[in-house]
Order: sequence, then structure tokens, then C-alpha cells
Amino acid sequence: MHGAMLEVRDVKKSFGGLKAVDGVSISLPRGRITLLIGPNGSGKTTLVNSITGFLRPDSGHVYLEDKEITHWPMHRICKEGMVRSFQLPAPFGGLSVLGNLLVACESACGESLLKCPLKALWKTTEKDNVREAFAMAEAMELTPYWDAVMSETSTGHIKLAEIGRALLAGAKLVILDEPICGVDPVMADEVFSFLIRLRDEQGLTFLVIEHRLDIALKYADYVYVMNQGKLIAQGSVEEVLNDSQVKEVYLGS
Ligand SMILES: Nc1ncnc2c1ncn2[C@@H]1O[C@H](COP(=O)(O)OP(=O)(O)OP(=O)(O)O)[C@@H](O)[C@H]1O
Ligand SMILES: [Mg+2]
Repeated sequence: MHGAMLEVRDVKKSFGGLKAVDGVSISLPRGRITLLIGPNGSGKTTLVNSITGFLRPDSGHVYLEDKEITHWPMHRICKEGMVRSFQLPAPFGGLSVLGNLLVACESACGESLLKCPLKALWKTTEKDNVREAFAMAEAMELTPYWDAVMSETSTGHIKLAEIGRALLAGAKLVILDEPICGVDPVMADEVFSFLIRLRDEQGLTFLVIEHRLDIALKYADYVYVMNQGKLIAQGSVEEVLNDSQVKEVYLGS
């Protein structure tokens, strides 16, 4: 499988008679930001849903670091290191920014009754989690807002916290569905700059779905383009922008 972080082979997903994803194959190299674009309804979210265990693909195969994960449940895929965000962000609105990060900490003890007698261990873990969550808030420059109620912060902060949650959950591959939708241009560049830092400093891999091409294309290492359930182009930003089918879909020319 050439050591790719993720290999998707010939995935198909229909809703009744509608072929939402019609035989799509993509490959995500490690430590790269891959962009998935296409007009509304072209099947981008359905593809992501089908490879992250949110939906069951009708056919095809998905390999994470050469291990087949097709039809695995979402929580197991997440534990394996592939974490995704949703098109409509789902923060824990009533919690603080720090609280939103804490819920994702890999070693969070939760409410396990079995762990109650091990209070000393539990306390240490909780302290470590807070430390870890604070460090993440710092890396994302969210520290000034650490105790703000999540739902009262900006869309950009909510999107950043979502990425932070994925990282704290131990992600090595992060899939983001429209991470800068509704985010102001300055903050949108900050979100992508954060991804660039994570790619360069930690070798993380990203698959990003985005409509705001003016911003997203500046940061992409490789681009896939979907239309009507199929891939119509792939390559560098320049290659894709010069592709006649892409021009037709986006510009009608
Ligand atoms: N649960 C579902 N049931 C029926 N049809 C669906 C379902 N989910 C998606 N579709 C349809 O599948 C097609 C692909 O939708 P999808 O949401 O994957 O597109 P998308 O590329 O993510 O679009 P957008 O850019 O608007 O988010 C669309 O025609 C959509 O209406
Ligand atoms: Mg979508």
C-alpha cells in the first residue's frame, strides 16, 4: 500500500437510487495536507462518512497505515488514530474552552466505577489532562479564552477547539469537513497556519474538505476534486486549477 497514511479503494455509497459516492479511490501520504473539493452535493461528506465509520460503504476498501479498517465502527477507527470533525461543528456549548479540550484527553478517566478506589491515580491523571489541555490551548493561542463558555466564543475558536480535541484524542490523521466555514478571513488563515505547523512539527496528516478555495488552496499539498459522486481530477493546486473538467464544473467554461 506504499506506506500511505490512508488508502481508499473504489468506495461506493448510494442512498436509494442516488449514487452519492460512485467508486472513489484516494491516497493520503503521511505528513501532508490533502484537500478535497467539489460543488455542493458532489459526495465529499458522504465519502468521509463512509471511510470514518459514520456510514457503512456499499463496497470498497479502506486501509489506515496498511491495516484494513473497512466497516470498523467509528470509535474503533478513532482509537486507531483517524479522527474527524463534522460539517456542522458540535462543541460542548455549555462547557468552557478548556472543558471542551479536556473531554478529548486520551487518558481521561471518565466515570468508571472501577477506578474510584484508585483515587490517587485518578487525581494524577486529571492533573496531567489539565496540563495537556492547557498546552494545547496555548499552542492554538486560545489561552486568553480558556474559561470562556464555548458557545459564546467565535466560530473560529470553535473550529480550533475541534482540531485541538482531535489532537488530544491521539489523532495522527485528522479529517476536517469545512474547518473555516463561517470563519472570518484572518482567523481562517490562522486555522490553516495551525494545520501547517502541526504538519511540519509533528508530521500529522490532514484531509480537508473546503469550499473557500481562495484560502484553502494556499495551504494544500495535493488536491482531489469530486463531482456527482466521482473523482474528476487530482494533482497539485496548479494542475487541478488548469484541468478543463474542473474549470467547467466551477466556472461553467
Ligand atoms: N443521508 C442521506 N440520505 C439521502 N441522501 C443523502 C444523504 N446524505 C447525502 N445525501 C445526498 O448525497 C449527495 C452527496 O451529498 P454530500 O453531503 O456527500 O455532498 P457534499 O459534497 O458534502 O456537499 P456540500 O458541499 O454541500 O457539503 C447529495 O445529493 C445529497 O443530497
Ligand atoms: Mg458536505
